[in-house]
Amino acid sequence: RRSIWLSRHGESQFNVEGKIGGDSSLSPQGLKYAALLPEYVAKFSIGEKGLTVWTSSMARTIQTARHLNCQKLEWRALDELDAGTCDGFTYDYIEQNFPHEAELRNNDKFHYRYRGGESYMDVVRRLEPIIMELERQGDVFIICHQAILRCIYGYYHNLSLEELPFINVPLHTIIKLTPMTYETIEERVTVPI
Ligand code: G3H
Repeated sequence: RRSIWLSRHGESQFNVEGKIGGDSSLSPQGLKYAALLPEYVAKFSIGEKGLTVWTSSMARTIQTARHLNCQKLEWRALDELDAGTCDGFTYDYIEQNFPHEAELRNNDKFHYRYRGGESYMDVVRRLEPIIMELERQGDVFIICHQAILRCIYGYYHNLSLEELPFINVPLHTIIKLTPMTYETIEERVTVPI
């Protein structure tokens, strides 16, 4: 039986500052997560042998995978939801300066598309090739971003589209999904930093 492992990148500099988007590097805490990851992957799986790691094309996910000694693939389709003209802002800043946008998003988070950016609906569409490729693969460890992982996680647990934007995917946690005939078995491990 094959499994899919999911993890967000380690804490990034933008996470520390509460900013969305960007292409920042890992914070000191995030670097610790990256360093501990091989040990936890080994404990929690068949080991790095035979495991393929997929990251996005963004620095924070590539840095998170750095110490894993296995085959790696970078996918632009796994990049974080594009916040368009809001990229690099905090949620407070958006609310203060673009209250109408904040309200639109609040009213329909799944369909709301950032100006010049994406909606969750857009992300679900761009993940289709990823999901199809996953179906043909063995064990894959996906290291990417919260919005993207929400969609992948929701797909395997058969959640409704409207639920996706609200799934909590915590930092520094590895989620193992094993799809069975009628359900997906889930296990989690949180890496103490
Ligand atoms: O960490 C930021 C998330 O990836 C996007 O969060 O869609 O809840 O604003 P949000």
